[in-house]
Amino acid sequence: MSEFVKVAKVSEVLPDSLLAVEINGQRLLLVNLGQEFYAIDARCPHRNGPLEKGHLYENEGIIECPWHYYRYDVRTGKNLYPRNVYPADLTYLERDLKPLQHYRVRVEGDEILVEFHGDRKE
Ligand code: FES
Repeated sequence: MSEFVKVAKVSEVLPDSLLAVEINGQRLLLVNLGQEFYAIDARCPHRNGPLEKGHLYENEGIIECPWHYYRYDVRTGKNLYPRNVYPADLTYLERDLKPLQHYRVRVEGDEILVEFHGDRKE
């Protein structure tokens, strides 16, 4: 079962920036890309690096982890680097690349809501 939870005001997430929020004991990043809002885990799936201290490439919708510079698509969670530099014939290298957890977002008036699943446990 899932529910949408209010996490912030639209006005709190400035254009082309991110905002860290704590909700249900979980740290998330809200990202504003051209007034489209996205919600992702604040921890990098590689080694739990702090993505809120990473770099947001707002034009590309990419966040880069400050620890080992892995890059993820904010909109889909897909790993972009180092996946894009692995040779095509060494597919086993990709086995350890996990996508960044992302969440569905809804905007109602000035409120940003994020969908949580009751069975999700971290
Ligand atoms: S912890 Fe993020 S790239 Fe390694």
